[in-house]
Amino acid sequence: MRINNIKNPKKIMYEIKGANIPSRFFFAPINTGLSENGILKEEFFDFYKERSHNSIGINYVGNVAIDPEYVTNSNTAYFTDETNQWEKLVKSISNCGSVPGIQIACRNSSLIPIRKMINNNVEDYLNTVRKDLINIPKEGIQDIINKFIDTSIKASDLGFNVVQIHAAHGYFLSQLISKSLNLREDEYNASDLIFLKEIINGIRDKKPNLIIDLRISFLEGITNEMQEKKDKEVLIKKLIDLDIDIISFSNGIYDINKQLIYPLEQWGHACFIKNIIGYAKKYPNILWNYAGNIWGLEELELEKLPNNLSFSLGRSLIADPLFVEKSINNKTHLINKCEYKNKCHYYSLNLSHIGCPIYELNKNSI
Ligand SMILES: Cc1cc2nc3c(=O)[nH]c(=O)nc-3n(C[C@H](O)[C@H](O)[C@H](O)COP(=O)(O)O)c2cc1C
Repeated sequence: MRINNIKNPKKIMYEIKGANIPSRFFFAPINTGLSENGILKEEFFDFYKERSHNSIGINYVGNVAIDPEYVTNSNTAYFTDETNQWEKLVKSISNCGSVPGIQIACRNSSLIPIRKMINNNVEDYLNTVRKDLINIPKEGIQDIINKFIDTSIKASDLGFNVVQIHAAHGYFLSQLISKSLNLREDEYNASDLIFLKEIINGIRDKKPNLIIDLRISFLEGITNEMQEKKDKEVLIKKLIDLDIDIISFSNGIYDINKQLIYPLEQWGHACFIKNIIGYAKKYPNILWNYAGNIWGLEELELEKLPNNLSFSLGRSLIADPLFVEKSINNKTHLINKCEYKNKCHYYSLNLSHIGCPIYELNKNSI
C-alpha cells in the first residue's frame, strides 16, 4: 500500500494492488432492501450512484449474500444470471469517481433476525447459536467457504475492485471467529481460523490483485468489554498474517444489541475510535477502517490520527450523499444532517426497504 497526499489529511489517497483509492472516506456497507429475487430495483442503482464521487474512496455495495439460501431478509441482494445489472452498477460507481466495493455476506441461522433494537433473551440466542454451530456438519461449512470464494471471484469478474468479507454483526463468519459463540473443537474451531485462511487463499489464488477487506465486530456485546478487547488482540494478531489488505472495525451482534452496530447519538462522535488507533499505528502496512457515529470531519482531528486509518460513513451519507464533498470543500453549513430519527432501520419498522426523511426532504436540491 502507498499513501499519497499526506500533507492534507482530509485528502489522503491510497494505492493498493494497483488501484487508486481517491479518498480515505468510504460509504459503509448498507443492506438497502432494494432488491427482489436477486433483481436490483431502479432505486438500488440511484442509491449507490448518488453516493459515488471522488471524495468517497470505496463505495461498498452492502450485504450481497453468497447464495439465496443465506440472505438476511427477503429483499437482500445476491448474484443471479442477470450479470448485466451488476456490471451497470459497477460502471456507474466508478464513472462517478469511487472505487466499487462489495460486501459478501452469509447469514446462516435457525433464528429469524429480531426486529427490536435490544434482545431481552440473550441467553436463548447464545444457546441456539452455540448449538447450531456445533451441529453444522463439516461439509456444510466447506460449502459456505466455497461459496464465499466463488462469489468473491464472480464479484471481481463483474468489475468490483474490493471485496469485503462480512465477519461482523453475528453473520456466520463472525460467529465462527467468536470465542464466545464457536465452541467447536475440530478444525473449524475459533482459534485456528482455518475457514478464513481457506477463503482468503482461495480468493487470492484466482485473483491476486483483488483488494480483500475483512469486517469484524470489535466489541460483540456478549462478555465484558475488557475480555472482548483481549480476545480481539489475539484475533487481530492472527489476521495480520493472512493476506488481507483492509481490516474494518464495526461492533455489535444484530440479534443481541443493534445499538452497538449503529451507535446512539448520545454516545458521542466517533465513540469507538480509540479501539482502532493503536492497531493502525502498530501495523502500518494494513489499511484500517473505522465506522460509527461520524457526523463531522473536523471533529475527527485527522492530523492526530495515523494516515493508514480510513473511515466508513453510514447514516451521514444516507441523509446527505454529498456529506463528505461538502465537508472537504468548506460547505459544512450546507450539509443535511442525520437527526437520528431511526427511520433508516426499515427492518425494525417492519418495512421492506430503506428510507430517510432527511434525504427525502432535500433530494430535489442535490
Ligand atoms: C440501514 C442500515 C443498514 C445497514 N446494513 C449493513 C450491512 O448490510 N452490512 C454491514 O456490515 N453494516 C451495515 N450497517 C452498518 C453500517 O455499515 C455502519 O457500520 C453503521 O451504520 C455505523 O456507521 P454510522 O454511524 O456512520 O451510520 C447498516 C446500517 C444502517 C443504518
